[in-house]
Amino acid sequence: MRASIAILGGDGIGPEVVAESIKVLDAISTKFNHDFDLKNEMIGGCAIDKFGSALPDQTLEACNNSDAIILGAVGGPKWDDPSAKTRPEDGILAVRKSLGLFANLRPVKVYPALINSSPIKPDLLKGVDMMVLRELTGGLYFGKPKKRWNTSRGRRGVDTLKYTENEIERILRVGFELALNRRKKLTSVDKQNVLESSRLWREIAVELSAEYPEVELEHILVDNAAMQLIRNPASFDVIVSENTFGDILTDEASVLSGSMGMLPSASLAELPNNKSKITKLSLYEPIHGSAPDIAGQGIANPIGSILSTAMMLRLSFGLYEEAEAIEKAVDSALAEGYRTADISSDGGTVVNTTKMGDVISGII
Ligand code: IPM
Ligand code: MG
Repeated sequence: MRASIAILGGDGIGPEVVAESIKVLDAISTKFNHDFDLKNEMIGGCAIDKFGSALPDQTLEACNNSDAIILGAVGGPKWDDPSAKTRPEDGILAVRKSLGLFANLRPVKVYPALINSSPIKPDLLKGVDMMVLRELTGGLYFGKPKKRWNTSRGRRGVDTLKYTENEIERILRVGFELALNRRKKLTSVDKQNVLESSRLWREIAVELSAEYPEVELEHILVDNAAMQLIRNPASFDVIVSENTFGDILTDEASVLSGSMGMLPSASLAELPNNKSKITKLSLYEPIHGSAPDIAGQGIANPIGSILSTAMMLRLSFGLYEEAEAIEKAVDSALAEGYRTADISSDGGTVVNTTKMGDVISGII
């Protein structure tokens, strides 16, 4: 097949990990005879420097003219001035919002080879295989008012956690559908003992569950969810949550896999269907940030980005065999003992970013 892909490397380790995804895509095109047309565009801090905007029109246009988007990461100390008019992160938020990417799928699994790389006891990690579904275009990230101002009694700041019924229903529906195709358990995360928006969220979850009698619906408060993720992580199948809650819980969940660098994500504008490919433009990125502390050293873990590319092949292009080839190659590379620095606490052959990409694409 032919497909065009917008490549937004971004800042810090973003371009470093994305380069390895491209290497892996090349291996896939050669083996399976596909033609991927890649177009590099800027987002984040580098785009602010060059165009004065974290998401230049040219980048958004290239995205809209592509069949899928691969993103690295954005941000860095250079652009961290709290009084700056625009921040690198605005670029990611804007691309998510303008493309309507409301459903962020973040699969969390534990690789047997990495069970000793996690600070969590191996016993607790057995059988961990969950999908965290994060609402991505609403909630506390986007609610208005959102501003800072000065008053005679000091400075003030406000963010707003707001959801419409439609926004809640569509993300919960994705959660139920994902659960239907997995182990049929949906954990809905909220803070309904305090937040009005959470009470609405829980009410809609209960109403919608009538349409999904096969799925067991469980409600859990977000603070308790944070604890259970460490205490009993194997009990989760699909977790669905508000935007900020999902952001926080997935950084925590990544510790189960051994490192932030391991987790991929897919951001979709529609319900994924496990039989055919989706039709709307989607974006694929690792859950980690730009890691300015290690940027430029070539030691970042590219696996989260590479696994995001596998998700792209499966979800956007319906290329199941190709996606599995990537996932199996990652399994094998880890089983053979190859480790980037972040997952090397149990030893193994420590390799840099490009070598990890070479090993994985070599196995394909
Ligand atoms: C993520 C990141 C982003 C977010 C940042 C970079 C804006 O932490 O994708 O999890 O908060 O969504
Ligand atoms: Mg995050």
